[in-house]
Amino acid sequence: MTILETPRLEIREFSEKDSDELALILGDPKVMEYSLKGPLSREEALKQLRQRILQHYVDRGYGLWALISKETKKLIGMAGPIVQTVDGEECVEIGYRIASSEWGKGYATEAVAAIRDYVFSRFSMDKLIAIIDPNNTQSIRVAEKTGFKLAKMTTFFDFDVGIYEIRRFS
Ligand SMILES: CC(C)(COP(=O)(O)OP(=O)(O)OC[C@H]1O[C@@H](n2cnc3c(N)ncnc32)[C@H](O)[C@@H]1OP(=O)(O)O)[C@@H](O)C(=O)NCCC(=O)NCCS
Repeated sequence: MTILETPRLEIREFSEKDSDELALILGDPKVMEYSLKGPLSREEALKQLRQRILQHYVDRGYGLWALISKETKKLIGMAGPIVQTVDGEECVEIGYRIASSEWGKGYATEAVAAIRDYVFSRFSMDKLIAIIDPNNTQSIRVAEKTGFKLAKMTTFFDFDVGIYEIRRFS
């Protein structure tokens, strides 16, 4: 199911057919440097696809979506709203990862800006957050370029992180 389009991307729901391409991205140590668990094996990637992505669509009606290059038709990353608990509060985070071969081409910024607008227009959330390791400069740039501001520092699963947020009417 297509969620939305940007000039260069089709943003659609994942399906099990994406598992091989997704496993390549989630198995890349560069892409997973700041993730909680590091690079995933093929089996772990499939488990994440089923339990954290496809099940999230069932539970919430949204989740991490596939970013497909309109030019090559290939999966170049993932981005979308996911529910997280931060300091005891349920929040909706926009998560994003791009295949390392495609970094620096503006894809994350393009996807996050479109998803931010889509989520605020379609769902009742008043705030979106991004949970970012303070050393992850690229991710901080993406958050800032799409209007997120640092709200606080905290710990998330024992990692020090910055909580960036954007409100509906900002
Ligand atoms: C973070 C990530 C999604 C960015 O994707 P991307 O498509 O390369 O992002 P964009 O091209 O839209 O923007 C990247 C910005 O970071 C900057 N950047 C790139 N490499 C950088 C580096 N090593 N140090 C500092 N800034 C850097 C770019 O110049 C650009 O900013 P600019 O437009 O002001 O020049 C990608 O690097 C990634 O998937 N990282 C691993 C997963 C991850 O960390 N996800 C976020 C978790 S919070």
